[in-house]
Amino acid sequence: MVTIEKANIDWENIGFGYYKTDKRFVSNYKDGKWDEGILTSDENVVINESAGVLQYAQTCFEGMKAYTTVDGSVVVFRPDLNAQRLADSAKRLEMPVYPQEKFLEAIDEVVKANLKYVPPYGTGATLYLRPYIFGSSPVLGVKPAAEYQFRVFASPVGPYFKGGAKPITLKVSDFDRAAPKGTGHVKAGLNYAMSLHAIVTAHDEGYAENLYPDALTRTKVEETGGANFFFVTKDNKVVTPKSDTILPSITRRSLMYVAKEYLGLETEERDVYLSELGDFAECGLCGTAAVISPVGKIVDHGKEIVFSGSSQQMGEISKKLYDTLTGIQYGKIEAPEGWIRKIV
Ligand code: PLP
Ligand code: COI
Repeated sequence: MVTIEKANIDWENIGFGYYKTDKRFVSNYKDGKWDEGILTSDENVVINESAGVLQYAQTCFEGMKAYTTVDGSVVVFRPDLNAQRLADSAKRLEMPVYPQEKFLEAIDEVVKANLKYVPPYGTGATLYLRPYIFGSSPVLGVKPAAEYQFRVFASPVGPYFKGGAKPITLKVSDFDRAAPKGTGHVKAGLNYAMSLHAIVTAHDEGYAENLYPDALTRTKVEETGGANFFFVTKDNKVVTPKSDTILPSITRRSLMYVAKEYLGLETEERDVYLSELGDFAECGLCGTAAVISPVGKIVDHGKEIVFSGSSQQMGEISKKLYDTLTGIQYGKIEAPEGWIRKIV
């Protein structure tokens, strides 16, 4: 095991924000191909004033984390799925796909070059990795750019929601997140741009996040601005909304597998109606940034739905899911084959 001198950071108390680290990876797409790519110390991007990303939001991204495991290794969790989802996002936005093998190598390089920023085991913090692609050459008419840039930067992060594992309260939003046949199923920057007014409004009213109902009928649960939902029934079944307009969360897909194969729980992916929320014992959010965050209450236009199992602290089943999933990520529990990529 190599001993790594760590940066002087108060790991236990960092929030979820940008922190400049030493190196990031950059590759450019020009004349129909990606170059080799390099690591650079320069955190600034210089692009044309009419770049596709600036005019028509031609950008998509990923979110993943590097973990220090219990034995001191540094690993990433299911990065092949992030590579695949970035490819799906790129195709939907008429952008070139960044090859999966090169994606994995870029992640390795960025983590290795920033090892001193990978939070130590046991601090609760992780190194967040942000791969993204954007249109870098000028456009004026509405069309895809001819040139692109792929970058990956790293930033040490703590809990996404203030208060860590304290249950949060959500608001059923009056805004739509994703239209049928729109871009809700991919990680397009534009999905987040249009959610900013909704999140600021929710925060101003004292809510931690929004629950977005489906845009077509406004009767079904979709997701929040940055995480998928799971619910636990009173007889311990784990239920998650099925929809073509939500982001296929890697955490949620992993969680459903863990529920079934590690914990022997029944699982179900189906339509979840706002009108049935009161029947569930526990509610939680899941995602790379959110990990598993308990939801204590959802407010639907004055109607309060309290989840008795997760209103004061993380619910019993949610906690088991949390312990098992993070146990796998931190190397305390054996992972299913192919879930962990060891970097050092
Ligand atoms: N839903 C949205 C809108 C997100 O931004 C994210 C974050 O990536 C997720 C869900 C969770 O996905 P994952 O578990 O792959 O991080
Ligand atoms: C992630 O979980 O990685 C995301 O991209 C969500 C974002 C709201 C931070």
